[in-house]
Amino acid sequence: MQSADLLITNIGELATPEGRTARSGAALAATKRVKGAAIAVVGERIAAVGPEAEVRAEWQAAREVDAEGGLAIPGFVDSHTHPVFDGTREDEFEMRVAGKTYVEISQAGGGIVSSVRGVRAASEEQLLAKLLPRLDRFLALGTTTVEAKTGYGLSHEDELKCLRVIAAANKLHAVELVPTFLGAHDFPLDFRERKSEYVDLLYEEMLPAVAESGLAEYCDVFTESHVYNLEQSRRLMQRGRELGLGIRMHVDQLTSGGGAQLAAELGAASADHLECVSPEGIEALAAAGVIPVLCPLVPLFLRVEQEAPARRMIQGGLAPALATDFNPGSCYTQSMPEVLTWAALRYGMSAGETLTAATLNAAVSLGRGERLGSLEVGKQADVAVLQLDGLAFLTYEFGWNPVRKVFKAGRLVLDRARTAIG
Ligand code: NIG
Ligand code: FE
Repeated sequence: MQSADLLITNIGELATPEGRTARSGAALAATKRVKGAAIAVVGERIAAVGPEAEVRAEWQAAREVDAEGGLAIPGFVDSHTHPVFDGTREDEFEMRVAGKTYVEISQAGGGIVSSVRGVRAASEEQLLAKLLPRLDRFLALGTTTVEAKTGYGLSHEDELKCLRVIAAANKLHAVELVPTFLGAHDFPLDFRERKSEYVDLLYEEMLPAVAESGLAEYCDVFTESHVYNLEQSRRLMQRGRELGLGIRMHVDQLTSGGGAQLAAELGAASADHLECVSPEGIEALAAAGVIPVLCPLVPLFLRVEQEAPARRMIQGGLAPALATDFNPGSCYTQSMPEVLTWAALRYGMSAGETLTAATLNAAVSLGRGERLGSLEVGKQADVAVLQLDGLAFLTYEFGWNPVRKVFKAGRLVLDRARTAIG
């Protein structure tokens, strides 16, 4: 008999992708499923996982947590969010409901730059005080790892301020944050007539300072006809890479402009959005092994028709990740359960495919596939227990929060009683 620190018992069904690399094709759907399961945890890691009787035959622990027959999955990995902001944009939502488009609102001085006003006016302490409750909500929705972009500072000092806020939150909160520098999110208002000067500033000063600070793992750019063109995007991302940062890119979101091909050329860790990606773009991403990060709630929220051709991407050999794109403008939700249902309904992804995309593939896109994204021996014990009757209910049942228990690195960090009312 071996000693564990914790046994998670009475799991109705355990469902998980397997492996340390991104899954595509048939492997995207091929999740391991165990009814009546248990997990043994030693320190921060999973020591055993399988049918409860088998786990109990080998492992004992002073502490047991009863999953009450729930569905146990790896904690969600939300691989695309913009969580550092002060002030919301419900007025723009109302404008879109009334018929205005995202780009019209942005060109009229709203959009990203309205969040920039809020971030510039806020202190580091104020931004941290806004971010921490958002992390509580991520956890309550079963998300244990979150990619966090800056991008509402758009000045040397304000962008670094946002990165420091992310670093501070990372120390204080159980949710693991992966910081991405998105100084190239938009052009600050005072640079709109001299865009190349802001690109030079990013290239010469901001990117080197960010790399020097050690506060970001990735850099990102909004490659789109009304913001950064291909040439500017290439120059900035190459610079980021030279300085030791990984590359993530917003591409082909509102128009098709060859952004996916650029992400492939640069060997980006992820190409995100892709609603308007061309067949050539899909081929290029597949050839380069770039992970597409799809955000299915964004077109809904923006009221645009075009959705990412997820099925074509999967047929083309891509290994998609799913994300919320949580931000105050184009998608004000933190709910991965909602994302999964929407991916099923709009993309035609099976429950197993959505689970792999929202956990293992997302973890791999963040360089964490060795440690996160699946419930296997040796991986970190990041587990979400949901009040659902099995894997199929992960997409089928929606509109409430079924998350009941969350473990991060073997620690129970969220515990809510089963309930009839969500
Ligand atoms: O991912 N595409 C660019 N950035 C965000 C929008 C952010 C905002 O409107 O504040 C996005 O959709
Ligand atoms: Fe985004």
